[in-house]
Order: sequence, then C-alpha cells, then structure tokens
Amino acid sequence: MLISNCRIRGREGFYDVEYENGKFTSIESHREERKGGYDAEGNMMMPPFVEPHIHLDCVLTAGIPHYNMSGTLFEGITTWHEYKTTQPLVVSEIKERARTALRLMAEYGVQFVRTHVDVTEVSFQGVQALEELKEEMKGIIEIQTVAFPQNGILSCKGGKELMRRAMDMGVTCVGGIPHYEYTREYGLESIRFIFDLAEQYDACVDVHCDENDDEQSRCLEALAVTALERGWGRRTVAAHTCAMGSYNDAYCSKLFRLLKDSQINFNSCPTESIHLQGRIDSFPKRRGITRIKELTHEGMNVALGQDSIADPWYPIGVGNLLRVLEMGIHVAQMTGYEDLSHCLDLISVNGAKNLCLDQEYGIEVGKDANFILLGGKDDVEVVRFQSPVILSVHNGQTIVEKIPAKVSVKF
Ligand code: FE2
Repeated sequence: MLISNCRIRGREGFYDVEYENGKFTSIESHREERKGGYDAEGNMMMPPFVEPHIHLDCVLTAGIPHYNMSGTLFEGITTWHEYKTTQPLVVSEIKERARTALRLMAEYGVQFVRTHVDVTEVSFQGVQALEELKEEMKGIIEIQTVAFPQNGILSCKGGKELMRRAMDMGVTCVGGIPHYEYTREYGLESIRFIFDLAEQYDACVDVHCDENDDEQSRCLEALAVTALERGWGRRTVAAHTCAMGSYNDAYCSKLFRLLKDSQINFNSCPTESIHLQGRIDSFPKRRGITRIKELTHEGMNVALGQDSIADPWYPIGVGNLLRVLEMGIHVAQMTGYEDLSHCLDLISVNGAKNLCLDQEYGIEVGKDANFILLGGKDDVEVVRFQSPVILSVHNGQTIVEKIPAKVSVKF
C-alpha cells in the first residue's frame, strides 16, 4: 500500500510511504509521477496516539446510581463503590462499555492503551472482561492492563492476595495507590510489595501516586528510590503526582535529582486533575496538576492521559487526547513556541515510552506499519485546529478512515 504526498512529523519535505505485510517497506521523498494508493494531500503522518492511563472497567457509568455532586476524587471513589455494590457487574456488560470507549479512542487516533482495572472489586468480572478484551482486540488496538487496588493493598482485606490473583490471570502491569492507604507506613509497605510482585512476574509498574493537593503526600520519593534501587525505573510510571503542584521549590529541587537518577516515567491527566483537585481550596485555588513543564524541561518523560470517559470521577470525556493535550498545555503553561512546537510528544512518543513500546512504534522502514494521518501540517496547527484523524492504520490494516466535513463560509 502506498501513502503518497504526506508530511512526516519531525521531518522536512513531502514523502511517499509504502507498507506491506504489516511493515513499513519504503519511505522516500515524494515524486509527482507516483500514482495509486492514498493521496495524503500534504497532511501529516505520525505514529499513533497512545493512551497511557484510563480505567476501561469504569467508562460510561456516570450517573449510575447517581452523579458525583461535589466533583471530588473521594466522592468519585465512594460513588464507584456504590456502583460496584448495587449494579450486577457482568463480563459482557463491562466489555460492551469498554468496546464503545475503544471505538471512540480509535476515532481520535489511539492505537495503544494502558488501562487500570479495579482488583478490589472482588467478583473479578472487570479483570476477566478486560483480559478477554485485550486478547480480542489484538491487531486492532493493543491493550495493556494494570492491577489497580482502588481500595488499597494494605487497607483492603485480602489486598495482597487480590493483586496476586490478578497477576495470575495475566494482567500486564502492577499498580498501586500508596497515598490512599490508611497510613504512610501502609503506603510504604505497599510500594515494597508492588516491586516484589513486579519482579516475580517480570512486569512493569504503574502506580497512582500522590493524587491529592497535600504537600505532605510524598509517596513519590519512596516509589522513585525503590525503582532506582531495584533497577526498575524505565519500567515504572508514577501517575498523577498532583501533590507535586503543591510541594515547595526547595523540596522539589532535591526531589528532582532522585527522579532523574531513577529514570522513572510520569503520567498526568490534566482534564481529570483540573476537575478533581483544588476542590477543598477556597481562593487562590490550586491547579492540582504535577509539574509537567518542569519535569519535561529537566529531560524526564511525561505522557498525558484521559483517566476517565464519563465515569464517577469525570462526567465528560470522549476519548479525544487532543482535547486532553489542549487542556494540559494551558494548565501547565506550555504555550511558549518551543513547547508548543513539539507538544504532540505528550500524547504520542512519551506515552510509547511509558508503555515500553519498541518495534511497534515509529515511522521507520522495518517497523510495524502503525500510523495516523492528521489534517494539518505541524504540532501547532494540529492542536490549534484540533485536527481530525483522517486515517488510522494498525499493522498495515486501516482501522479508521474519516472524511472531514466540508464547510463553506458565505462571506
Ligand atoms: Fe486513574
């Protein structure tokens, strides 16, 4: 298959790109005489968007049994608990909701997804549903699952056993929620357990960490030093780290040395955090997001995710990472030209690092033919116009094709 006359993100000029049997076979400068295939009309090809952090077992449950009226994280957790205890959780129903969310994400250019799944929901219907979906979606959208102990590991009866059971069922990564454990000591013990499990199952670590506005919430330093000492940094993600937005600068400058040495990755969910955090503040009201710009400028890897699509924590969300990116660069004040000119990294290549993708990611001959074609010419134009994904190809198969609406302005 030939895609002719496309820009390729990060390169000058126009290209003709060919792929065959699921691999890129040729990338050459565009020649007018080349006919056939798909005419990209100068639009921009890039590797697909990566969703590094979502909860597919919870999507599309907003309003059941009731909406989160305060908009706080903790009412979200209690509302989800009510959902779990009042609604019959059935594998087929969870898969249907998750599949609907995946279709939305695919429409907006996502081909790789890391989803958390609540392992403190003891029927394990969610784990079963997402493990089945992970297999069924292979070759269309690649899914990684994370064993997520929503009610804690030490603070939940049988929490360690539930985590082991999930890993035995084939869950991809080990999760955690140390800041939510009853005490700091429980949080620290949970971190040691998380890495023990990761070593035992040779799995990546992806932990909800310091998702609050408490400047004393400092599980991140324990997560980073454990990752450093066990040589697990590149395979570790610290998600949210909202409290870093409240840390004082003196502590942060010390912390950054450890974070860099540890080589851990970060995830931030700016639409979710700007919605959930700062709720207990009067004014001035904190933004409740981690230091996305400062971490990035220090050379650390930060990827943006959605967290929720219409669930007890966040009632909106349609699977569109460009919308998340737009919020993220505003809240993090990454709207200076230098940051703006490569902002798509935050929802693409940085997410690929979080998911430890390799052969399957990048526009290069010999790599898997995974790409999207965006209606625009560069990062600034794409984020400014919220450009549509006009083509999404995974393993050489077209999974989404969109014909943008033609609009005629009459003046
Ligand atoms: Fe989350």
